[in-house]
Amino acid sequence: MSRGLGEVQVRAGAETDLAPLTDLYNHYVRETAVTFDTEPFSPAERRPWLLSHPEDGPHRLLVAQDTDGVLLGYVTSGPYRPKGAYATSVETSIYCAADAVGRGVGTLLYGALFAALAEEDVHRAYAGIARPNEASVRLHARFGFRHIGTFTEVGRKFDRYWDVAWYQKDLR
Ligand SMILES: CC(C)(COP(=O)(O)OP(=O)(O)OC[C@H]1O[C@@H](n2cnc3c(N)ncnc32)[C@H](O)[C@@H]1OP(=O)(O)O)[C@@H](O)C(=O)NCCC(=O)NCCS
Repeated sequence: MSRGLGEVQVRAGAETDLAPLTDLYNHYVRETAVTFDTEPFSPAERRPWLLSHPEDGPHRLLVAQDTDGVLLGYVTSGPYRPKGAYATSVETSIYCAADAVGRGVGTLLYGALFAALAEEDVHRAYAGIARPNEASVRLHARFGFRHIGTFTEVGRKFDRYWDVAWYQKDLR
């Protein structure tokens, strides 16, 4: 899948994206509590994650790149939980490169993801947002996610506890 919009192209992620995808994510692992991973990944460690998102089906990886091929962000839909009855629910995750936030890339990626999922047997999407994260809250609101509850102090990173607000989007 490939979709150009202005100077940014959205397409399915590929193995050749592994190194820049890992770098992009590791920034947030090291510097922020928006993800609860606490140790950066090597590309080899991150490979099973990449391969768990094929080009079709409910579990997608889409990337945004500029005209020079520089990775600007990515979005995934993955399993919410492994048990069979949860197969119609996905958990989404979205990260822009640190120098590409606030430019509409997140909006572009989520638009492409939900267009792709419209053909799939997916009924609900869930997103957990570690608070505070106003940009993420606004992005999810824009795409029709609604707040369904908050897990308080569910994670500890940088020697303090963090809340995770859960959001749900109805897909079909
Ligand atoms: C959260 C994130 C994916 C949003 O993508 P983005 O490309 O920055 O957002 P967009 O430019 O498409 O804007 C989406 C909305 O967020 C708002 N927004 C963007 N940056 C913002 C900021 N720093 N503060 C407040 N609102 C912000 C925009 O105004 C827009 O709101 P609107 O729809 O009400 O007009 C991106 O900022 C990011 O990668 N952040 C770091 C990683 C992260 O937090 N990932 C999500 C984990 S749950």
